[in-house]
Amino acid sequence: MLHASSQSSDLIGVFDSGVGGLTVLRELYRQLPNESILYFGDTARLPYGTRSRLEIEQFVREILVWMTAHRVKMVIMACNTSSALAIETVRQEFPGLPILGVILPGARAAVQKGKRIGVISTPATAQSDAYRQAILEVDATAQVWQVGCPEFVPLIEQGRINDLYTYQVVEQYLQPLLEQEIDTLVYGCTHYPHLAPVIRSIVPKSVQLIDPASHVVLAAAQELDVLGLRHTRPPKPTRFYVSGDPHPFVQISRQWLGCTPCVEQVRLSEVAEQVAS
Ligand code: DGL
Repeated sequence: MLHASSQSSDLIGVFDSGVGGLTVLRELYRQLPNESILYFGDTARLPYGTRSRLEIEQFVREILVWMTAHRVKMVIMACNTSSALAIETVRQEFPGLPILGVILPGARAAVQKGKRIGVISTPATAQSDAYRQAILEVDATAQVWQVGCPEFVPLIEQGRINDLYTYQVVEQYLQPLLEQEIDTLVYGCTHYPHLAPVIRSIVPKSVQLIDPASHVVLAAAQELDVLGLRHTRPPKPTRFYVSGDPHPFVQISRQWLGCTPCVEQVRLSEVAEQVAS
């Protein structure tokens, strides 16, 4: 059994397979400006959304071992796929470490807006049925349609937001949801808010768009207060790490963050050996 370090630092650990978690990071900057963040993007193993549950659990385990070595005080899974497939397992394996996922805050926000809820996500998240279960737990009368969108993450990671091809792919994935006359659409993958201008141009204005990022950060703020862990002095600069080549990550995150992050590469294979032994 793996334990969280008893002496925590001031850091909040945030992770995703790549740049998707930046949508959560931006919300952290907005809502919790005094918190210091350790960001990890598992770019060497992206996309997560076509992987098996066992693979995702193992990746998340490795990331959490690495984050606890940095003595994080809390972890936000800024990744729906990890939240859908691994959160229950790793919560048991890392007792004492507060771990927040994006699905429940997203589901709660969705039911406050509508009854006919569409969810776009990675294929793994859609297959897990996690959003339907979470939404129905909060409102058993809601109707939920989930669509897996395997092409979105590679297009976003390649920075191809404004391509005509991307527009056509978005249109195609949204079609079955629009046929169901949804009133609410959930970004069930943290990468997808990067496609917001394209999605907004396709769905009717009456459809409410839900980005779980702002809601998970609200939940994090409440949890920090309950635990007495909120930081009140100015933060340290965000530390960015990726498992693959830092360059593409720097390029894309510059657009989303409005500054050039300093990004280091970390080899999780060493952590993997530690987990296996
Ligand atoms: N952004 C992640 C999510 O929310 C993972 C996407 C992927 O790597 O497929 O699911």
